[in-house]
Amino acid sequence: MAVTFQLLALVHILLCCGALHFRKMEFAIQHTWDSNPVDHEPIRLAYSDGRSGLKIEVSGPFFKGFHPPAEPGLPDLSLRIYEVASSVFLDSTKNNYLEVVLCPYGQHLIVLKAAGYPLYQLLPIEFTTTITGDTWQGQALIPWTYFPPNVNKMNCYASHGIRENRTHEALYPVPKEDLVEGLYPDAIYQEYFQNFRLQSIMGEDWVQPESDLWRGKA
Ligand SMILES: *[C@@H]1O[C@H](CO)[C@@H](O)[C@H](O)[C@H]1NC(C)=O
Repeated sequence: MAVTFQLLALVHILLCCGALHFRKMEFAIQHTWDSNPVDHEPIRLAYSDGRSGLKIEVSGPFFKGFHPPAEPGLPDLSLRIYEVASSVFLDSTKNNYLEVVLCPYGQHLIVLKAAGYPLYQLLPIEFTTTITGDTWQGQALIPWTYFPPNVNKMNCYASHGIRENRTHEALYPVPKEDLVEGLYPDAIYQEYFQNFRLQSIMGEDWVQPESDLWRGKA
């Protein structure tokens, strides 16, 4: 009897703590880069604990853009001009960031910038996608070591179409009152990022694993 009770108590503790540590954060990209509502179902991104890294799930409409040069599963330096969804994780105090660019056809581009300068690109990730008619979904695992220490801000983007029909969308867009001549629709304007911490997903007592990639840079 006592043993059963202890077991139940243990299960209860595990479930409670598990729930705290496996929080999923979900975001929907509702606006164009310049704060107009998007005219389609939003691209959605969800972040959760992937154990060795952050799991990113993407889903949304598929616009049937051109296939990038690289094969699915591989990095592609030219990926930004194709149909993509991306996340940028920033330490705004050091201008260190990780950019994760994901394509419905399965290519990816990972860019690390330290103090605004490129540190690494073409790093590998696990990333798989499925295209079903007019929609697609993808699942990526981004190793913790790719994240700059002390991420405090985040934004998400999505782009599709070509030339005059290209659309750039942002989770946190440039507000209407800040729109002036000369802004780039596909630029990363850090001042509009909003607060974000990996601890919101992993729990307050979680400590980001040390990273050789960021040693001496953060
Ligand atoms: C842009 O969209 C319009 C209307 O659908 C189409 O006629 C035109 O060919 C498109 N332009 C390009 C470059 O795809």
